[in-house]
Amino acid sequence: MPKTLSRPYRFYIQKHKGLFSLGVIALLITNLFDSFIPLFIGQALDRIVDFESMTEVTRTLGVIAGLTLGLSVFRYFWRILWGRFHVSVADDLRQRIYSHFVQLGPGFYQRRSTGDLMSLINNDVNSFRMAIGPGILILLDAVFLILIITPIMLSLSVPWTLKTLVLMPLVPFVVKKVIDEIHNRYRRQQDQFAELSGSAQEVVSGIKTIKAYAQEKNQTQLFNVFNRKYEMACNQVAKVDASFSPVLELSVTVGSVILLVVGAPAVIAGEVTVGQFFAFYQYIQRMVWPMSALGIGFNYIQEGNASFARIGEVLNSPPDILPQGKTAVEHFQKLEVRHLNFFHPDKDLPTLKDISFTLKAGEILGITGMTGSGKSTLVDLLTRVQPAPAQSLFINGIPVEDIELSHYRRLISVVPQDAFLFSNTVSQNIALGCDAEDPQQVEEVSQVVDMDREIRDFPMGYESILGEKGVNLSGGQRQRLTLARALLRKAPMIILDDSLSAVDRQTEKRILDQIQSALADKDSQAKAPACIIISHRLAALEWADQILVLDQGQVECFGPREKVLRESPTLRKIAALQSESEGVFNPDEVPNYV
Ligand SMILES: Nc1ncnc2c1ncn2[C@@H]1O[C@H](COP(=O)(O)OP(=O)(O)OP(=O)(O)O)[C@@H](O)[C@H]1O
Ligand SMILES: [Mg+2]
Repeated sequence: MPKTLSRPYRFYIQKHKGLFSLGVIALLITNLFDSFIPLFIGQALDRIVDFESMTEVTRTLGVIAGLTLGLSVFRYFWRILWGRFHVSVADDLRQRIYSHFVQLGPGFYQRRSTGDLMSLINNDVNSFRMAIGPGILILLDAVFLILIITPIMLSLSVPWTLKTLVLMPLVPFVVKKVIDEIHNRYRRQQDQFAELSGSAQEVVSGIKTIKAYAQEKNQTQLFNVFNRKYEMACNQVAKVDASFSPVLELSVTVGSVILLVVGAPAVIAGEVTVGQFFAFYQYIQRMVWPMSALGIGFNYIQEGNASFARIGEVLNSPPDILPQGKTAVEHFQKLEVRHLNFFHPDKDLPTLKDISFTLKAGEILGITGMTGSGKSTLVDLLTRVQPAPAQSLFINGIPVEDIELSHYRRLISVVPQDAFLFSNTVSQNIALGCDAEDPQQVEEVSQVVDMDREIRDFPMGYESILGEKGVNLSGGQRQRLTLARALLRKAPMIILDDSLSAVDRQTEKRILDQIQSALADKDSQAKAPACIIISHRLAALEWADQILVLDQGQVECFGPREKVLRESPTLRKIAALQSESEGVFNPDEVPNYV
């Protein structure tokens, strides 16, 4: 296990040892200055009570002013230094989590809810930051103050110290108990808040459905229920929170009463001065903070440890595919799939069974099959988003697991079934994965997918921001943008997973025609990219050299287009349905477009 995970406190303190040590020194000096002030106030008081000269009193007041000034300066420093320390720890941890998130595969995300993962990067990182920052600081502060104040109190009076501090050791335990309870109730409050905000969020995302199904009243009632629960949870927190200060005040009051009982007679008898009595009273008050700080500090550490355990669990999760391959593939010649079987995790039956085919550079393979037959799963395996069993996928005869992962990913450009766009400009979205954003190429590829004119109509053209608070796209526009993105990469193999299902047939045909001529390399068939087109629509498979029909994860039929159109029951069924609805297709009169 890496050091970051096994000993996070030591790791981060060592990493920022400069900031940490300076912060501790500044804290220690602040505590020293702060702890000596009551002694000097007591001295000034005695000088006033004894009618000493004003010069003496002024001198003492000068010392108090100096200590107070020094205290403010050093307090400012430790706050700055300490703040920087724990903020940069949180920053580092967030970066580590995020870079691990992007390494992990879809299998991991399937097992975790989005809320949990967001909470990890927000709440858990923050809770660990509070432990390594304020938590450790509070504990050090408490230890320093106890070590400084106790000897001063003992030097003033041993019996008074023992009698007045009798309740103090209980304070950390009581404080910890109260804080534990506050945290438990606070967690319930947070859960209620999550429900409440989830319900509020649904108005934003589901307003059309709410209106269409006249759900305004029901949704409002539901929201009110969550609101009421949240209110009750807040009251529960407030109840325990309210007991926190009285608990602390009680210990000061008890200590002060004891001091009055044991100290007042000594002052009256003239055995101790009013100043000493006053200073002692001040120290009783000052001891309450370090005692309660022990409870608070341990609580932060406890919470931070629990949070770090959750963070560590995620950082320790291995990616689905380990980047172990070393071989580089410069020129794509052929893809071979040999007896590929695949089980989804937690499933008893295989999603893909004994799939075999070969695809050479410049060839087009059409894949079709009923919904759920395993087409997108095959794409996930081919693109290595999910791991395929060893020795079942080969590029130029080399098993894919032996090929360097980043190299492999450059060989394939995929347009996934669910078009995903980032909240960036149109241009940045299209040029994703390219080393540089060339506006001319971006425009050319947008023309190929029939989007150029529509993009120019956006308020800022290619520079328009997409997504929330930006341009909203139709399903077909999203698909065409992701298609443009895949084409621009100019990879030697391109996979279109039902990428034009949301555009009308005419547009689909025009786009596929244009892609076909854009991809075709006039000089050499071997240099043209291999293409896999997945579709339920027969028109999209018109250019396919070969067609693979999947049925419940198995190859129902594979071979040249004409043969498959004649022999595959699934394809004949699809053809019959499509010719019935569109009146255009006759499987016995298959035109040859290739
Ligand atoms: N992540 C997953 N975990 C478990 N089972 C899955 C997962 N993804 C898909 N499946 C199952 O695997 C089977 C094949 O799904 P897949 O998405 O590959 O079908 P498809 O042929 O692409 O369907 P469609 O035409 O609807 O896109 C389905 O039964 C589906 O329920
Ligand atoms: Mg699919």
